[in-house]
Amino acid sequence: MIQGFSRFSREEKIRIASEFARHPVEFAREMIANWLPGRKTGEQDPGFTENAVSDFRLPYSVAPNFLVNGKQYMVPMVTEESSVIAAASSAAKFWWDRGGFVTTTGNLIKPGQIHFIWKGTEAIITNFVREIREGLLDSVSHIVRSMKSRGGGIDGIQLKNLTDKLEGYYQIEVLFNTVDAMGANFINTCLETMSEFILKQAEKRGISESLEIIMSVLSNYTPQCLVKCMVACKISDLVPAGTNYRGSDFSRRFETAVQMAHHDISRAVTHNKGIFNGVDAVVLATGNDFRAVEAAGHSWACKDGVYKALSEVRIQGNEFEFSLEIPLAIGVVGGLTNLHPMARASLQLLGDPNAKTLMSVAASAGMANHFSAIRALTTGGIQRGHMKLHLVNILGQLKADEVEKNAAIKYFRNHKVSFNSVRDFLTLMRER
Ligand code: MEV
Repeated sequence: MIQGFSRFSREEKIRIASEFARHPVEFAREMIANWLPGRKTGEQDPGFTENAVSDFRLPYSVAPNFLVNGKQYMVPMVTEESSVIAAASSAAKFWWDRGGFVTTTGNLIKPGQIHFIWKGTEAIITNFVREIREGLLDSVSHIVRSMKSRGGGIDGIQLKNLTDKLEGYYQIEVLFNTVDAMGANFINTCLETMSEFILKQAEKRGISESLEIIMSVLSNYTPQCLVKCMVACKISDLVPAGTNYRGSDFSRRFETAVQMAHHDISRAVTHNKGIFNGVDAVVLATGNDFRAVEAAGHSWACKDGVYKALSEVRIQGNEFEFSLEIPLAIGVVGGLTNLHPMARASLQLLGDPNAKTLMSVAASAGMANHFSAIRALTTGGIQRGHMKLHLVNILGQLKADEVEKNAAIKYFRNHKVSFNSVRDFLTLMRER
């Protein structure tokens, strides 16, 4: 047991942590080497997390040519998966000539609940909540004031009876309009303040013995923050480049692939993962909470009691329509969005969007990645593209120069890519 670890200096923390590593010296060296320069001087050390001993870098990429609701965007994306940016860019370019991505967004309402156990009758608790309603709102008026001035605030309070699921289980659900903020801290502060007020009121009315508040917290189930994203074109315009498919065959295969993900969970999870490849990369680049987005998205995927695809295809005559629906509780103010210099830069790159615009761009990135994935899967497969990028990564790792790179790319068009095969190829070339 290590006592008071968080109080040690960074150097001390690295030394202690390295004792757990198989190669302590190597571990310490990596921690020191990867601590970003700004952090070394303390200038940019924002102290986001406790016990930070180094930085973990991921590539920051930009995907050009996104046309979203008629406006052009250069989309910032952070991901470790090599094919994601190429796939997003390729789909963005494809849809650029076909009207781009069209989105509609929900109303930015996020729920939170005070979860409690009530041992009395439903009539008494219903009456109690009705009577304290105004007081509840007043108890948080000082917290809500600035959100209200931006057009947000509290949108509703209701008592929910869940006693058919768990004995005595009730919730007071509060709906928050957090405008351009994701609003997690704001919501949780309001809920905890309201809980204190409820306990005091229960005490005053002599019913506190029957009421036990278990927790007060926001919910990441945010169906009101739903974004619908759509692309559409004539089937005759849908021919994928570099293949022999006719638009009608391709659209039929594409539609069948999507239908499969509506009928089988194994396929549906991977299908939706392809959407999150794009969504998460934008969410990360803008300093938003990708765990919240993932949790909401996957719960939305099983809203009908069965986990299904988040996307749909509609074919009518010569019209092809591909759409997806995803709840995106993300923001452009508060949290990391303004504290992290890279998140701030991402928002600038997007022209300082409001939350709804960012939601639209993130959904479009998801749609772009998803379209590329289904297009590749239903035509030549995904490995060809993946392996091309994998090859470039291996060549970089083996420090290949331009001549070697070009020769390898040519050779591996018809040969299997693996680390060993590329290393052997380079060794042979270098021995010549
Ligand atoms: C890989 O990151 C994503 C895909 O597996 C998505 C899909 O199967 O639809 C290609």
